[in-house]
Amino acid sequence: MEKLLIEGGRRLAGEVRVSGAKNAALPILCASLLSPDPLRLTNVARLNDVGTMQKLLAQMGVRIDAASPGTLTLDAASIDWPLAPYEMVKTMRASILALGPLVARCGEARVSLPGGCAIGQRPVDQHVKGLQAMGAEIDLESGYIAARAARLKGARIVFDLVTVTGTENLMMAATLADGVTTLENAACEPEVVDLARCLTMMGARITGAGTSRIVIDGVDRLHGAEHAIMPDRIETGTFLAAVAAAGGDATLVGTQADTLDAVLDKLREAGATVDVRGDAIRIRRDGPLKAVNIRTAPYPGFPTDMQAQMMAVAARADGTSVITETIFENRMMHVPELQRLGADIEVEGNIAVVKGAPALAGANVMATDLRASACLVIAGLVADGETVIDRIYHLDRGYERIEDKLSALGARIRRVG
Ligand code: UD1
Repeated sequence: MEKLLIEGGRRLAGEVRVSGAKNAALPILCASLLSPDPLRLTNVARLNDVGTMQKLLAQMGVRIDAASPGTLTLDAASIDWPLAPYEMVKTMRASILALGPLVARCGEARVSLPGGCAIGQRPVDQHVKGLQAMGAEIDLESGYIAARAARLKGARIVFDLVTVTGTENLMMAATLADGVTTLENAACEPEVVDLARCLTMMGARITGAGTSRIVIDGVDRLHGAEHAIMPDRIETGTFLAAVAAAGGDATLVGTQADTLDAVLDKLREAGATVDVRGDAIRIRRDGPLKAVNIRTAPYPGFPTDMQAQMMAVAARADGTSVITETIFENRMMHVPELQRLGADIEVEGNIAVVKGAPALAGANVMATDLRASACLVIAGLVADGETVIDRIYHLDRGYERIEDKLSALGARIRRVG
C-alpha cells in the first residue's frame, strides 16, 4: 500500500496552482444525466472520487470522453441502467447525487443506501423526503432506494437541517419537474452555486442559489452546455494552513478567495498575513503561531472540511485552542494520530481542546479519512524528523498530486509503494 514520507521542519515558499473543486465536480458530473445532449466540463481535477463518479456514470450508459487533461465531455443520450450499485456507493457516498437526476430524467432509479461511513452515520432522509414531496414513490428494498415518478411535480420543501448534497440532489431533480419547486433552508455552499450555474447554462430556471431559498421553475428538457468547474476552496485552505503551520511565504493561484472568508479570518487570527489579489492568495507566516478557537458551521461559517487541517495548525500554536465540530458526530479521528506526533489534545464529544506544543516529532501515522489525511500531512510538514503516513488512498480521493504541489513549495515529501 502506498505511503507518504515527509521530512518535516522546512519553510514553504513559492507558487501553487489550485485544482478544480471535487465537491463541485461530483454533482456537476451527475447533472450530465439530466440532458440527452453532451455536457463539456473543464477544470476537472484528476481525483479518485472523480474517477469513481465517471465509472458509475459509464455503467449507466453515459459516454465519457476525456480528450485532454482536465476536460471531460459527458454524453447521456441514452441511459441504459438508472442504477447506482452498492459496490460503488460504499466507496463514494456522493454517488447518492445520481438519484435526483435519474428519477427526473428516466422516471425511475435504484441507488444503494450509503450505510455508515468513517465520519459518522450520514443519513439521506432529507434527499428521500424531498423526492417524495415532489411526488416520487420511494421504496427501501434490500439496502436500495427505489424511486419512481412518471414526472416529478414542483413542491415546497423545507429541509430539517442544512444538507449540501441534499440541496444539490433536489435542485437537479426540480429542473425537469412540472411546475415550481422551492427549497427552504437550502445549503448556501459555493458548490451549490457552481452547480446552479452549470444547470442554468443547460437551460434550467433557477434563482436564489447561494441563499437559503432556492426557486426552480421546471422545464421540459435541458440541453448541452460547457462549464468550467470552480476552484477547490478546501484544497486552497489546506495549502494555506500548511504554510501557516510550517511558516514561509507562498502564493496560491487560480483561487476564489471570496469562498474562503471564514478560513482566511482564522489564518490571520493565527498570526499569518494573508493578501488577496485577483485570483491569487498570498500567505506569509514568520512570527509566532497563535491559538484560535474554531466552530464548524454550514457556509459561510467555518467549513467542517477544514477542521482537521486547522487542528494541525493549532497543535503547534502558542496557547490553547478550542475546536468544536458541529456538522458530523465522529470527525475527530485525526486526534489519536496527531497525539502520536506529540500533540496535546483532549477530546470530549465534539469538542477538542488543543494545547499548542513548541514542537511535534515525526512518527508513523495512519490516514482515516480524506481531510484527516490532509491534517496529518500538515502535521508531518511541521514535525521534526520523518513522518510516514499510511493509507493515503484517502488523500488521493480529494487532492490532486498533493506531494508534487508541496514539493514545489520546498517540502520534502515523497510517495513510496
Ligand atoms: C457535503 C460534502 C462534504 C462536507 C459536507 C458538509 C460533497 C460531495 N460532500 O457532504 O465534503 O463535509 O457537505 O459541508 O459535497 N444529514 C441528515 N440527513 C440527510 C442529509 C444530511 O441528517 O438526508 C446530516 C448529515 O448526517 C450531517 C449534516 O446533515 O450531519 C450535513 O451533511 P451534508 O451537508 O448532507 O453532507 P454531504 O452533503 O454528505
